[in-house]
Amino acid sequence: MSRAPNTAIAAVPDLPDVDDKPRVVEAMFDRIAPRYDALNRVLTFRMDVGWRRTAVRALLLPRSSRVLDLACGTGDLCRTLVEAGHDAVGVDFSTGMLRAAHTNAPLVRGDAMQLPFADATFDGITCGFALRNFAALATVLAECGRVLRPGGRVALLDVAEPVSPAVRFVHGAWFRHVVPFVGGLVSDRAAYRYLPASTAYLPPVPELLGLVVAAGIVDVSRRTLGFGAAQLITGSRAASR
Ligand SMILES: C[S@@+](CC[C@H](N)C(=O)[O-])C[C@H]1O[C@@H](n2cnc3c(N)ncnc32)[C@H](O)[C@@H]1O
Repeated sequence: MSRAPNTAIAAVPDLPDVDDKPRVVEAMFDRIAPRYDALNRVLTFRMDVGWRRTAVRALLLPRSSRVLDLACGTGDLCRTLVEAGHDAVGVDFSTGMLRAAHTNAPLVRGDAMQLPFADATFDGITCGFALRNFAALATVLAECGRVLRPGGRVALLDVAEPVSPAVRFVHGAWFRHVVPFVGGLVSDRAAYRYLPASTAYLPPVPELLGLVVAAGIVDVSRRTLGFGAAQLITGSRAASR
């Protein structure tokens, strides 16, 4: 995603300017970290647990693969990776989320836009619900391409807009009204208004897949999960670029 001002996004309330985004997002996740996991379970009816397992399986990597969980937050995906027998490493810039983490995997404080790892370090990369939080998605995807070994796999999970009008209506009411209400009661109202609104940062599907391809990822495919409420994008790092 370009850092250039986006008028469509500027028109969405509850979203920070692109230049402020990293600071605002980091501070927000620091604040909501203590209740983040519990709210995820409640607000997705625990479907998020299954989505993470699906993402890890979709890596199609043998046990003991070295996998980076990008924007690992409290470490849910790291735990799923470890359960699947992988050597997981998590990276995130929110100290609050890292402190609240519950995983044996090593966690590193770092910026996804400038990953603190050498080229071709990892066999796989997972990323859960963070694509829309990055200030420059193209930069982050380029970093993924850099730290993945040739042939390495990616599994990128994020929210999506259901296609069916009926599901879209119910999902919209839940995501835009119930999530901010419950999140506001239990945690932080501004953050749980931002989280649904931040879907606006995700480019349309063809553009999003185009950014993944531009980062040197091939065999890219996308599937939806949870009646279209989530999407999983997978692919492999090209053997050469
Ligand atoms: C919605 S949470 C997802 C956490 C976790 N992946 C999960 O599946 O629950 C988004 C995470 O992205 C992190 N994040 C956002 N921008 C980042 C960046 N530029 N570098 C590192 N972490 C970032 C936030 O700190 C937050 O922990």
